[in-house]
Amino acid sequence: MMKSLCYLIYLMPVVLAENICEKRSSIVYQDYTADEWVESQESTWGNTEKCVLFYTSNRQNRDLQRVLPSEVENITGVSSFNISLKTIFLIHGWKSVYNSTYNLMLGNAYLDVRDVNIIYIDWDKWANIFYPISVYLLSRVGEYIGQFINEISATFNYSLENIELVGHSLGAHICGYVGGATNSAISSITGLDPAKPGFSKYHPESRLSPDDAQYVQVIHTAGLMVGSSYTVGDADYIPNGGCTQPGCCLLKPICDHDRSYLYFIESLRSDQFIAKKCESYDDYLAGQYKNDPQIIMGGAAVNRTLFGKYCLKTNSTSPFSLGDIGL
Ligand SMILES: *[C@@H]1O[C@H](CO)[C@@H](O)[C@H](O)[C@H]1NC(C)=O
Ligand SMILES: *[C@@H]1O[C@H](CO)[C@@H](O)[C@H](O)[C@H]1NC(C)=O
Ligand SMILES: *[C@@H]1O[C@H](CO)[C@@H](O)[C@H](O)[C@H]1NC(C)=O
Ligand SMILES: *[C@@H]1O[C@H](CO)[C@@H](O)[C@H](O)[C@H]1NC(C)=O
Ligand SMILES: *[C@@H]1O[C@H](CO)[C@@H](O)[C@H](O)[C@H]1NC(C)=O
Ligand SMILES: *[C@@H]1O[C@H](CO)[C@@H](O)[C@H](O)[C@H]1NC(C)=O
Repeated sequence: MMKSLCYLIYLMPVVLAENICEKRSSIVYQDYTADEWVESQESTWGNTEKCVLFYTSNRQNRDLQRVLPSEVENITGVSSFNISLKTIFLIHGWKSVYNSTYNLMLGNAYLDVRDVNIIYIDWDKWANIFYPISVYLLSRVGEYIGQFINEISATFNYSLENIELVGHSLGAHICGYVGGATNSAISSITGLDPAKPGFSKYHPESRLSPDDAQYVQVIHTAGLMVGSSYTVGDADYIPNGGCTQPGCCLLKPICDHDRSYLYFIESLRSDQFIAKKCESYDDYLAGQYKNDPQIIMGGAAVNRTLFGKYCLKTNSTSPFSLGDIGL
């Protein structure tokens, strides 16, 4: 069994959540089951078709072009989507939007280094509401994206080998649901600091897990508070131990959380995030793995040969990669 990355504080959000739910159950939810309550709110949120939108972009046209699921059969006519290219789906997290600075930086960095289609998923409306409701809606978002992918695949005989997903925070868990909804296995998922609150190490079916694609890699950066503090992928990277990041302040866990974006974006052009396979970050710092082979975190193409937990250090400001610092 893997030890959790930040085991001292790991239980804190669980304890807090339990207290909150106890109070809430006696006040807000008293007349409803959770499902009934969600149904009763349906009119407030709108339906999936209105709340999950697709935008495509590639080198031929970097502007984001909205594509309706009903147009999939003519996606090459209504947008610059090119079935000769591989496709990368980008899925943002809670309290974020599809065209956030970091998401656009990620999409454009990909186009700089790879000739691919990017599809931005916009689930803004459901990502900017009460957190537990967003969590509840993740499976719907994921299944809807999965159907979209199945339709592209069926229409164009487009292999799911051509599809990669990248998700940040709650978006990483959406990637898991997408993988569960497609007719065959997606090539890879990259989880950028998957969210912790609302997910359990012991319930892999309702979070990102290695079963969700042929290969799942994860970068953990905020395991102390908002990011998962246990391994969830085939390969799990823990820069600076994966709990907090240098240059971030304890009171702003979002800084740690967003570093997963920044490290991954930088890695698309840099092979200098040099890591070592490790059991514990303390042992890594003590130099226990210094004679072990170097591997590279991230990169434009997913390296599907790496399995296990990997440790590395980064700098506190951009550029973050440190190359070979000898550990
Ligand atoms: C596909 O889209 C193009 C561009 O909008 C349009 O001219 C064409 O009629 C569409 N074809 C079909 C079959 O809908
Ligand atoms: C689609 O991508 C292929 C491979 O890069 C390229 O040769 C082709 O010109 C592209 N098609 C369009 C319409 O841009
Ligand atoms: C993001 O998209 C929304 C609507 O799709 C638009 O109103 C907003 O201006 C966009 N923001 C940026 C920074 O492009
Ligand atoms: C679909 O593509 C596969 C290769 O990816 C090919 O073997 C198969 O014949 C294709 N099927 C059709 C109906 O074109
Ligand atoms: C994948 O990682 C292995 C181990 O570090 C390395 O030998 C190999 O060259 C990498 N492959 C690619 C395509 O980067
Ligand atoms: C880390 O970043 C600081 C500030 O940008 C820079 O001065 C320093 O050289 C960097 N360290 C390494 C090892 O790259």
